[in-house]
Amino acid sequence: MDKPFERVTVVGSGILGTQIAMFAVHAGYAVRVYDTRQGAFEQTFAKLRADLEAKGIEPVIAWDKWQGCKEAIRFTTDLKTALGDADFVVEAVTEDLGVKREVFKEMGEIAPPQAIFATNSSSLPVSRMEASSGRPERCLNTHFYMPLQGIMMADLMGGTKTLPEILDKGEKWLRSMGFVPLRVKKEILGFCFNSVWRAIKKQSLYMWANDFVDFRDIDRAWRLFTGARWGPFGLMDTVGLDTVANIEMVYYDKSQDPRDKPPERLLEKIEKGELGVKTGKGFYSYPDPEYLDPDFLNPEK
Ligand SMILES: NC(=O)c1ccc[n+]([C@@H]2O[C@H](COP(=O)([O-])OP(=O)(O)OC[C@H]3O[C@@H](n4cnc5c(N)ncnc54)[C@H](O)[C@@H]3O)[C@@H](O)[C@H]2O)c1
Repeated sequence: MDKPFERVTVVGSGILGTQIAMFAVHAGYAVRVYDTRQGAFEQTFAKLRADLEAKGIEPVIAWDKWQGCKEAIRFTTDLKTALGDADFVVEAVTEDLGVKREVFKEMGEIAPPQAIFATNSSSLPVSRMEASSGRPERCLNTHFYMPLQGIMMADLMGGTKTLPEILDKGEKWLRSMGFVPLRVKKEILGFCFNSVWRAIKKQSLYMWANDFVDFRDIDRAWRLFTGARWGPFGLMDTVGLDTVANIEMVYYDKSQDPRDKPPERLLEKIEKGELGVKTGKGFYSYPDPEYLDPDFLNPEK
């Protein structure tokens, strides 16, 4: 598959940024990764590996390619080095509009004028940060879903001024890395699939927080119904409960409907540092969550 450009920079080397960088380098792009945190790439890379191994998941990028990917990716904590010659920049920093706007501003000041800016935000339309980049016509959303675990699709959405050829390049980039692009025709919070997933997540949290059912039964039901390898709570642990809460706040900020607020019980878990896989405890405990137990789906057996 033809590449629409050559040099990709990923800003933010957390759970998602690191995966995006790996897929880009695996597809033959020259990749730089920037984070404000020293050693961020190495740390997240190791965490992703440990999480997949613990779950017994064979990643989409085969294990024997990991070392090569790691060696080919240039990590830096210097933004000028990261952006100097970038063609395409993917922002994957913390899900916070203020932080993302600031990052888009810095990217706009440093990256070459022709560089395209994408955000991997799980909930924020790029229209909310495009202005600070100084190049709104070259901004778009490209939203990935845990690609190493096999979810090979990404939402693709423009902002208020995105040029059609920029969306086309975004689509070609996704396809060149093996992803199915999900084009959104007009702006919606949560894009294509994430707005569907959000409805499931919101109802699951509501039922747990108000003690209607044990969260494990929701995960069992979801897995038995869909054949998926994880349920909503296992997935939220993987995403990170702080990220989940931040995303829910984006919906609440827009609607001001109290039913859209993340439940207090979730915020209490976050307060205690129970953020999911990344801190070793969320709804389940890691690295060996009980939902991996072969008897989990039918514990009465
Ligand atoms: N976790 C998921 O499953 C998931 C899925 C799809 C999309 N996303 C989105 O991807 C983005 C990143 O999420 P994540 O889960 O990788 O978060 P994360 O917390 O794992 O990583 C965020 C990274 O951003 C870095 N960072 C923070 N401020 C920065 C700055 N100003 N400049 C550079 N780096 C900075 C942090 O040091 C950290 O390494 C969010 O917008 C999130 O909504 C996450």
